Amino acid sequence: MVQLSQKVALGKAHGKLILVGEHSVVYGKPAIALPFPLIEVKSFVEEIPESIRISCDYYDGYLSTVPNKMKGIAACVVETLKVLTPHPKGLLIRLESTIPLGRGLGSSAAVAIAIVRSLFTYYKRELNQKVLSSLVNISETHAHGNPSGIDMAAASGETPIWFQKDREIDQIQIGAPIHLVVADSGRVGDTLSAVSGVKEKYKTDQHKTNASMEHLEEITYTARTALSGGHLKILGHLLDLAQEELTSLGVSDDGINKLVHAARKAGALGAKLTGGGRGGCVIALAKNASHAKSLAKAFLIAGASKTWNFSLGNKLE
Ligand code: MEV
Repeated sequence: MVQLSQKVALGKAHGKLILVGEHSVVYGKPAIALPFPLIEVKSFVEEIPESIRISCDYYDGYLSTVPNKMKGIAACVVETLKVLTPHPKGLLIRLESTIPLGRGLGSSAAVAIAIVRSLFTYYKRELNQKVLSSLVNISETHAHGNPSGIDMAAASGETPIWFQKDREIDQIQIGAPIHLVVADSGRVGDTLSAVSGVKEKYKTDQHKTNASMEHLEEITYTARTALSGGHLKILGHLLDLAQEELTSLGVSDDGINKLVHAARKAGALGAKLTGGGRGGCVIALAKNASHAKSLAKAFLIAGASKTWNFSLGNKLE
Protein backbone atom coordinates (compact mmCIF):
# COMPACT_ATOMS: atom_id res chain seq x y z
CA MET A 1 0.00 0.00 0.00
CA VAL A 2 1.45 3.32 -1.07
CA GLN A 3 0.48 6.87 -0.28
CA LEU A 4 1.04 8.43 -3.74
CA SER A 5 0.78 12.03 -2.63
CA GLN A 6 -1.07 13.86 0.10
CA LYS A 7 -4.21 13.49 -1.99
CA VAL A 8 -4.13 10.02 -3.61
CA ALA A 9 -3.84 6.67 -1.82
CA LEU A 10 -3.17 3.38 -3.61
CA GLY A 11 -4.17 -0.18 -2.65
CA LYS A 12 -3.28 -3.25 -4.72
CA ALA A 13 -4.13 -6.94 -4.92
CA HIS A 14 -3.17 -9.67 -7.37
CA GLY A 15 -5.03 -12.60 -8.90
CA LYS A 16 -5.12 -16.15 -7.53
CA LEU A 17 -5.03 -19.68 -8.87
CA ILE A 18 -6.54 -22.68 -7.17
CA LEU A 19 -4.22 -25.59 -7.88
CA VAL A 20 -6.53 -28.17 -6.37
CA GLY A 21 -9.48 -28.33 -3.97
CA GLU A 22 -11.99 -25.84 -5.40
CA HIS A 23 -15.59 -26.63 -4.49
CA SER A 24 -14.60 -29.26 -1.89
CA VAL A 25 -13.08 -26.33 0.07
CA VAL A 26 -16.62 -24.95 0.49
CA TYR A 27 -17.43 -28.17 2.44
CA GLY A 28 -14.52 -27.85 4.86
CA LYS A 29 -11.95 -29.83 2.85
CA PRO A 30 -8.45 -28.40 2.28
CA ALA A 31 -7.32 -26.70 -0.94
CA ILE A 32 -4.04 -25.44 -2.36
CA ALA A 33 -4.00 -21.94 -3.84
CA LEU A 34 -1.28 -19.79 -5.37
CA PRO A 35 -0.87 -16.05 -5.64
CA PHE A 36 -1.01 -15.09 -9.34
CA PRO A 37 0.92 -11.81 -9.53
CA LEU A 38 0.90 -11.54 -13.34
CA ILE A 39 -2.49 -9.85 -13.09
CA GLU A 40 -3.59 -7.26 -10.54
CA VAL A 41 -6.08 -4.62 -9.43
CA LYS A 42 -5.13 -1.11 -8.31
CA SER A 43 -7.50 1.11 -6.37
CA PHE A 44 -6.79 4.87 -6.15
CA VAL A 45 -8.63 6.97 -3.56
CA GLU A 46 -8.78 10.74 -3.58
CA GLU A 47 -10.98 13.42 -2.08
CA ILE A 48 -13.69 15.00 -4.21
CA PRO A 49 -16.21 17.68 -3.25
CA GLU A 50 -19.23 15.38 -3.41
CA SER A 51 -20.37 12.07 -2.00
CA ILE A 52 -18.68 8.77 -2.77
CA ARG A 53 -18.07 7.83 -6.40
CA ILE A 54 -16.61 4.75 -7.93
CA SER A 55 -15.03 4.57 -11.35
CA CYS A 56 -13.98 1.47 -13.30
CA ASP A 57 -14.36 0.00 -16.80
CA TYR A 58 -17.93 -1.09 -16.07
CA TYR A 59 -19.32 1.82 -14.11
CA ASP A 60 -18.62 5.44 -13.34
CA GLY A 61 -20.94 7.07 -10.85
CA TYR A 62 -22.23 7.33 -7.31
CA LEU A 63 -21.71 4.44 -4.92
CA SER A 64 -25.40 4.58 -4.05
CA THR A 65 -26.44 3.77 -7.65
CA VAL A 66 -24.02 0.98 -8.63
CA PRO A 67 -25.41 -1.79 -10.88
CA ASN A 68 -26.51 -5.03 -9.23
CA LYS A 69 -23.28 -6.91 -9.87
CA MET A 70 -21.35 -4.23 -7.94
CA LYS A 71 -23.68 -4.15 -4.92
CA GLY A 72 -21.28 -6.35 -2.92
CA ILE A 73 -18.41 -3.94 -3.59
CA ALA A 74 -20.62 -1.00 -2.56
CA ALA A 75 -21.56 -2.76 0.71
CA CYS A 76 -17.89 -3.47 1.35
CA VAL A 77 -16.99 0.23 0.83
CA VAL A 78 -19.78 1.35 3.17
CA GLU A 79 -18.71 -1.05 5.94
CA THR A 80 -15.03 -0.15 5.49
CA LEU A 81 -15.81 3.54 5.86
CA LYS A 82 -17.83 2.81 9.03
CA VAL A 83 -14.70 1.22 10.50
CA LEU A 84 -12.54 4.16 9.43
CA THR A 85 -14.51 7.31 10.17
CA PRO A 86 -17.84 8.57 11.56
CA HIS A 87 -17.89 11.35 8.90
CA PRO A 88 -16.72 10.06 5.51
CA LYS A 89 -15.56 12.72 3.09
CA GLY A 90 -16.47 12.89 -0.57
CA LEU A 91 -14.18 10.33 -2.19
CA LEU A 92 -13.45 9.02 -5.64
CA ILE A 93 -12.43 5.34 -5.76
CA ARG A 94 -10.86 4.63 -9.15
CA LEU A 95 -10.13 1.04 -10.17
CA GLU A 96 -7.65 -0.25 -12.75
CA SER A 97 -7.57 -3.99 -13.31
CA THR A 98 -5.80 -6.51 -15.52
CA ILE A 99 -7.72 -9.45 -13.94
CA PRO A 100 -10.41 -10.64 -16.34
CA LEU A 101 -13.81 -10.71 -14.67
CA GLY A 102 -15.50 -13.99 -13.77
CA ARG A 103 -12.71 -16.31 -14.96
CA GLY A 104 -11.92 -17.96 -11.60
CA LEU A 105 -8.79 -15.83 -11.21
CA GLY A 106 -9.96 -14.01 -8.09
CA SER A 107 -11.10 -10.75 -9.64
CA SER A 108 -13.95 -10.10 -7.19
CA ALA A 109 -11.78 -10.75 -4.14
CA ALA A 110 -8.88 -8.72 -5.55
CA VAL A 111 -11.10 -5.70 -6.27
CA ALA A 112 -12.43 -5.72 -2.70
CA ILE A 113 -8.94 -6.22 -1.20
CA ALA A 114 -7.48 -3.36 -3.26
CA ILE A 115 -10.35 -1.03 -2.28
CA VAL A 116 -10.15 -1.83 1.45
CA ARG A 117 -6.36 -1.40 1.39
CA SER A 118 -6.61 1.94 -0.43
CA LEU A 119 -9.23 3.29 2.00
CA PHE A 120 -7.14 2.27 5.02
CA THR A 121 -4.10 3.92 3.41
CA TYR A 122 -6.12 7.06 2.67
CA TYR A 123 -7.15 7.32 6.33
CA LYS A 124 -3.58 6.40 7.40
CA ARG A 125 -4.75 3.40 9.41
CA GLU A 126 -3.10 0.01 9.94
CA LEU A 127 -4.99 -2.93 8.43
CA ASN A 128 -4.61 -6.44 9.75
CA GLN A 129 -5.52 -9.66 7.92
CA LYS A 130 -8.51 -10.37 10.18
CA VAL A 131 -10.20 -7.02 9.50
CA LEU A 132 -9.33 -7.23 5.78
CA SER A 133 -10.85 -10.68 5.64
CA SER A 134 -14.10 -9.72 7.32
CA LEU A 135 -14.58 -6.65 5.09
CA VAL A 136 -13.77 -8.52 1.87
CA ASN A 137 -16.11 -11.30 2.95
CA ILE A 138 -19.02 -8.83 2.60
CA SER A 139 -18.52 -8.47 -1.14
CA GLU A 140 -17.47 -12.09 -1.61
CA THR A 141 -20.77 -13.21 -0.07
CA HIS A 142 -22.61 -11.18 -2.73
CA ALA A 143 -20.39 -12.69 -5.45
CA HIS A 144 -20.30 -16.36 -4.38
CA GLY A 145 -23.16 -16.86 -1.93
CA ASN A 146 -21.20 -18.96 0.55
CA PRO A 147 -17.50 -18.17 0.02
CA SER A 148 -14.93 -20.41 1.66
CA GLY A 149 -12.54 -17.44 1.95
CA ILE A 150 -9.84 -19.05 -0.21
CA ASP A 151 -9.96 -16.37 -2.93
CA MET A 152 -9.42 -13.61 -0.40
CA ALA A 153 -6.56 -15.53 1.28
CA ALA A 154 -4.74 -16.27 -1.98
CA ALA A 155 -5.29 -12.86 -3.58
CA SER A 156 -4.00 -11.02 -0.51
CA GLY A 157 -0.99 -13.26 0.25
CA GLU A 158 2.41 -13.72 -1.33
CA THR A 159 3.01 -17.47 -1.00
CA PRO A 160 1.34 -20.75 -2.00
CA ILE A 161 -1.15 -21.68 0.70
CA TRP A 162 -2.87 -24.67 2.26
CA PHE A 163 -6.34 -23.38 3.01
CA GLN A 164 -9.09 -24.91 5.09
CA LYS A 165 -12.18 -23.00 6.24
CA ASP A 166 -11.94 -21.66 9.81
CA ARG A 167 -8.37 -22.94 10.26
CA GLU A 168 -5.01 -21.20 10.30
CA ILE A 169 -3.59 -20.78 6.80
CA ASP A 170 -0.42 -22.78 6.21
CA GLN A 171 2.36 -21.99 3.75
CA ILE A 172 3.22 -24.68 1.23
CA GLN A 173 6.76 -25.74 0.34
CA ILE A 174 7.60 -26.21 -3.32
CA GLY A 175 10.36 -28.82 -3.81
CA ALA A 176 11.07 -28.15 -7.49
CA PRO A 177 10.09 -25.33 -9.85
CA ILE A 178 6.65 -25.78 -11.35
CA HIS A 179 5.70 -24.34 -14.73
CA LEU A 180 2.02 -23.70 -15.20
CA VAL A 181 0.11 -22.41 -18.18
CA VAL A 182 -3.17 -20.68 -17.46
CA ALA A 183 -5.65 -20.53 -20.36
CA ASP A 184 -8.69 -18.30 -20.46
CA SER A 185 -11.64 -19.93 -22.20
CA GLY A 186 -12.85 -16.39 -22.92
CA ARG A 187 -16.17 -17.24 -21.27
CA VAL A 188 -17.35 -15.86 -17.98
CA GLY A 189 -17.76 -18.63 -15.42
CA ASP A 190 -20.59 -18.38 -12.95
CA THR A 191 -19.14 -19.36 -9.57
CA LEU A 192 -22.41 -18.62 -7.82
CA SER A 193 -24.34 -21.07 -10.02
CA ALA A 194 -21.52 -23.65 -9.95
CA VAL A 195 -21.47 -23.56 -6.13
CA SER A 196 -25.28 -23.86 -6.01
CA GLY A 197 -25.14 -26.71 -8.54
CA VAL A 198 -22.85 -28.68 -6.23
CA LYS A 199 -25.16 -27.93 -3.30
CA GLU A 200 -28.05 -29.26 -5.34
CA LYS A 201 -26.06 -32.43 -6.11
CA TYR A 202 -25.61 -32.93 -2.39
CA LYS A 203 -29.38 -32.96 -2.02
CA THR A 204 -30.07 -35.30 -4.94
CA ASP A 205 -27.12 -37.70 -4.50
CA GLN A 206 -25.55 -37.25 -1.13
CA HIS A 207 -23.62 -40.50 -1.16
CA LYS A 208 -21.88 -39.90 -4.50
CA THR A 209 -21.22 -36.22 -3.75
CA ASN A 210 -19.68 -37.11 -0.40
CA ALA A 211 -17.45 -39.64 -2.11
CA SER A 212 -16.32 -36.95 -4.62
CA MET A 213 -15.51 -34.56 -1.77
CA GLU A 214 -13.50 -37.22 0.02
CA HIS A 215 -11.63 -38.09 -3.13
CA LEU A 216 -10.83 -34.41 -3.73
CA GLU A 217 -9.58 -34.19 -0.15
CA GLU A 218 -7.29 -37.17 -0.68
CA ILE A 219 -6.03 -35.70 -3.98
CA THR A 220 -5.27 -32.41 -2.24
CA TYR A 221 -3.27 -34.06 0.58
CA THR A 222 -1.28 -36.10 -1.95
CA ALA A 223 -0.73 -32.99 -4.09
CA ARG A 224 0.83 -31.23 -1.10
CA THR A 225 3.30 -34.08 -0.66
CA ALA A 226 4.03 -34.16 -4.40
CA LEU A 227 4.61 -30.40 -4.44
CA SER A 228 6.97 -30.39 -1.49
CA GLY A 229 8.87 -33.43 -2.84
CA GLY A 230 9.09 -31.95 -6.35
CA HIS A 231 7.27 -34.97 -7.88
CA LEU A 232 5.85 -33.25 -10.93
CA LYS A 233 4.51 -36.31 -12.76
CA ILE A 234 2.53 -37.34 -9.70
CA LEU A 235 1.29 -33.78 -9.29
CA GLY A 236 0.16 -33.73 -12.93
CA HIS A 237 -1.71 -37.01 -12.51
CA LEU A 238 -3.45 -35.57 -9.43
CA LEU A 239 -4.59 -32.53 -11.41
CA ASP A 240 -6.14 -34.93 -13.95
CA LEU A 241 -7.91 -36.85 -11.18
CA ALA A 242 -9.24 -33.61 -9.70
CA GLN A 243 -10.60 -32.61 -13.11
CA GLU A 244 -12.46 -35.95 -13.31
CA GLU A 245 -14.11 -35.32 -9.95
CA LEU A 246 -14.98 -31.73 -10.84
CA THR A 247 -16.54 -32.99 -14.06
CA SER A 248 -18.62 -35.50 -12.13
CA LEU A 249 -19.72 -32.69 -9.81
CA GLY A 250 -21.02 -30.87 -12.91
CA VAL A 251 -18.77 -27.80 -12.77
CA SER A 252 -16.78 -28.42 -15.95
CA ASP A 253 -18.27 -27.94 -19.41
CA ASP A 254 -17.53 -28.70 -23.08
CA GLY A 255 -15.37 -25.60 -23.60
CA ILE A 256 -13.25 -26.37 -20.54
CA ASN A 257 -13.00 -30.07 -21.48
CA LYS A 258 -11.77 -29.09 -24.93
CA LEU A 259 -8.93 -27.00 -23.47
CA VAL A 260 -8.04 -29.73 -20.96
CA HIS A 261 -7.92 -32.27 -23.79
CA ALA A 262 -5.73 -30.00 -25.97
CA ALA A 263 -3.25 -29.54 -23.09
CA ARG A 264 -3.01 -33.29 -22.47
CA LYS A 265 -2.55 -33.96 -26.19
CA ALA A 266 0.30 -31.43 -26.18
CA GLY A 267 1.99 -33.44 -23.42
CA ALA A 268 0.86 -31.59 -20.26
CA LEU A 269 1.66 -33.54 -17.10
CA GLY A 270 -1.89 -32.72 -16.01
CA ALA A 271 -4.66 -30.19 -16.64
CA LYS A 272 -7.85 -29.07 -14.94
CA LEU A 273 -10.21 -26.16 -14.51
CA THR A 274 -9.31 -23.62 -11.85
CA GLY A 275 -11.80 -21.70 -9.69
CA GLY A 276 -15.56 -22.02 -9.94
CA GLY A 277 -15.68 -23.58 -13.42
CA ARG A 278 -18.56 -23.56 -15.97
CA GLY A 279 -16.43 -21.27 -18.12
CA GLY A 280 -13.42 -19.43 -16.78
CA CYS A 281 -9.89 -20.81 -16.91
CA VAL A 282 -7.86 -24.02 -17.21
CA ILE A 283 -4.41 -24.67 -15.75
CA ALA A 284 -1.92 -27.13 -17.21
CA LEU A 285 1.30 -28.38 -15.67
CA ALA A 286 4.21 -28.27 -18.13
CA LYS A 287 7.38 -30.40 -18.05
CA ASN A 288 9.61 -27.32 -18.12
CA ALA A 289 9.64 -23.67 -19.22
CA SER A 290 10.05 -24.39 -22.94
CA HIS A 291 7.29 -27.00 -22.84
CA ALA A 292 5.08 -24.34 -21.21
CA LYS A 293 5.51 -22.22 -24.35
CA SER A 294 4.29 -25.03 -26.60
CA LEU A 295 1.37 -25.73 -24.25
CA ALA A 296 0.37 -22.07 -24.49
CA LYS A 297 0.34 -22.38 -28.31
CA ALA A 298 -1.76 -25.54 -28.11
CA PHE A 299 -4.27 -23.73 -25.89
CA LEU A 300 -4.55 -20.82 -28.32
CA ILE A 301 -5.06 -23.19 -31.28
CA ALA A 302 -7.80 -24.94 -29.26
CA GLY A 303 -9.61 -21.61 -28.85
CA ALA A 304 -8.27 -20.06 -25.63
CA SER A 305 -8.66 -16.27 -25.72
CA LYS A 306 -5.49 -15.67 -23.69
CA THR A 307 -2.75 -17.58 -21.87
CA TRP A 308 -0.25 -16.82 -19.13
CA ASN A 309 2.94 -18.77 -18.42
CA PHE A 310 3.66 -18.83 -14.73
CA SER A 311 6.54 -20.43 -12.86
CA LEU A 312 6.85 -20.97 -9.16
CA GLY A 313 9.44 -22.52 -6.93
CA ASN A 314 13.20 -22.28 -6.53
CA LYS A 315 13.97 -20.55 -9.79
CA LEU A 316 11.25 -17.95 -10.21
CA GLU A 317 10.77 -16.61 -13.73
C1 MEV B 1 -13.84 -20.12 -6.27
O1 MEV B 1 -12.62 -19.52 -6.66
C2 MEV B 1 -13.57 -21.33 -5.42
C3 MEV B 1 -14.81 -22.09 -4.97
O2 MEV B 1 -14.33 -23.20 -4.22
C4 MEV B 1 -15.75 -21.24 -4.14
C5 MEV B 1 -15.18 -20.87 -2.78
O3 MEV B 1 -14.28 -21.53 -2.27
O4 MEV B 1 -15.69 -19.90 -2.19
C6 MEV B 1 -15.58 -22.65 -6.17
